[in-house]
Amino acid sequence: MKKKNKIFRQTVLLVLLSVFVLSVFTACGSKGHAVTDKASLTGARVGVQIGTTGDTDVSALKHGTKVQRFDKGADAINTLKQGKLDAVVIDGEVAKAFVKQNPDLKILEEPFETEEYAGVIAKDNTELLDKVNKAMQELQDEGILDKLKDTYINEKGDYHYKEKVTSGDTLVMASSIDFPPYEYFDNGSSTPVGFDVEMAYAIADKLGMKLEIQNIQFDAIINAVNSGKADIGFSGFTVTEERKKSINFTSNYMETQQAIIVQKGGAGNGQSFGDKLYNSFIKDHRFNYLLSGLVNTIIITIFAVLIGVVLGFLIALVRVTHDKNGNLKVLNFIAKLYLTIVRGTPMMIQLLIIYFVIFASVDISKVLVAIIAFGLNSAAYQAENFRSGIMAVDAGQFEAGHALGLKYGTVMTSIILPQAVKNVLPAIANEFISLLKETSISGYIGLQDLTQGGMIIRSITYEAMIPLLAVAVIYLVIVLILTWLVGKLEKALRKNER
Ligand code: ARG
Repeated sequence: MKKKNKIFRQTVLLVLLSVFVLSVFTACGSKGHAVTDKASLTGARVGVQIGTTGDTDVSALKHGTKVQRFDKGADAINTLKQGKLDAVVIDGEVAKAFVKQNPDLKILEEPFETEEYAGVIAKDNTELLDKVNKAMQELQDEGILDKLKDTYINEKGDYHYKEKVTSGDTLVMASSIDFPPYEYFDNGSSTPVGFDVEMAYAIADKLGMKLEIQNIQFDAIINAVNSGKADIGFSGFTVTEERKKSINFTSNYMETQQAIIVQKGGAGNGQSFGDKLYNSFIKDHRFNYLLSGLVNTIIITIFAVLIGVVLGFLIALVRVTHDKNGNLKVLNFIAKLYLTIVRGTPMMIQLLIIYFVIFASVDISKVLVAIIAFGLNSAAYQAENFRSGIMAVDAGQFEAGHALGLKYGTVMTSIILPQAVKNVLPAIANEFISLLKETSISGYIGLQDLTQGGMIIRSITYEAMIPLLAVAVIYLVIVLILTWLVGKLEKALRKNER
């Protein structure tokens, strides 16, 4: 009991200490550099979304401009609000949408060169390109594109294009749903809206196809389209010569410019903690993003653990049998190779490879892909757990069994394994806990798990901290419950020792 209290006190101390260190760091962070126009971006700390034209433009500035690349525009905006950036460069309409949500920010009226938006389609898919271009021309002629522009860009009128074709062949569109007013989530719903989204519905209808939208990281879209994961990408894509080398662009549908966002200076945004909580979770039922994410996280973890335990057990048997009596050479070789690869590469890379390479052309649910990826990964660690459990059972018992004339299989199943399993149960349960936390990278394949649920809330509210803390607390609570259960298990096992 005493020992537990000590650990608890140490943990609390450690947490307090880290919070203190972090705040000191923040307070001493480098001081600002006023950005008043494009020229003064030089030498400033400028945030951009990774892989965008904003990124290329700012990276091309000379003289020590400190470019900070973020996965999401909203993350750059948050960092600017915290005073850790001097400016953010992002597409003009998107800048307007962000500034509308953040009264303490403003846009500098100094535009970059004009850019044109178009969709992206794989180089070899000229058939689709022709069809899409024809559909876009028709939508232009029918005035539908203009009406959508009025709704989303000019803020007059309330025309919306409702999807009509809901069955038949699917047109898979990849998009990074983080870019209002072109593609974003609204009103707590998990269905994307925005100009690009409704235009894509209209195009799919013209093609007599059903539209399916895949939400993925912006800098992964061209790859997804090239690898056939998606047929088309609409995501506020600027036409550039560089991109033309690897992808075909559809007709242009929008003209815009990059804009510079800076802090108005002075006052904070005046939101109380209560407001922030309300905005993050209650408003528009945003907690639903966390709930549905949590469900996915739990499903993935449980099934991956099952795969891991079963497969891990089999691998361990192969390895031990080989070590004991030299049988199963080939299987042992495969098992060793498997362990080496899985344990020698990062989980995230494995997940991406399984999704984007192995299942590239297979129509399979992302949850299933994640279950397979995490299951295969966990199996490698579980195998070593089982193996060490089996090895820990005194080798003398093998010999004793042997001396009594029992076969290897009998010794294994009736003497060794029952003890081994008991030994390794806690280790297996601990792997369960690690796995739960590891699944937080599922967002990289566009799967909405608990972490991604929090990220969606951040991208809607631009509230940097609260969704992250909430997600952390939810993981922590689950882990604490599991840890407690493992503790009980260990006690129970120790009790029936004799
Ligand atoms: N127009 C810029 C580009 O093509 C930014 C697009 C970012 N889109 C997004 N959905 N985040 O690079």
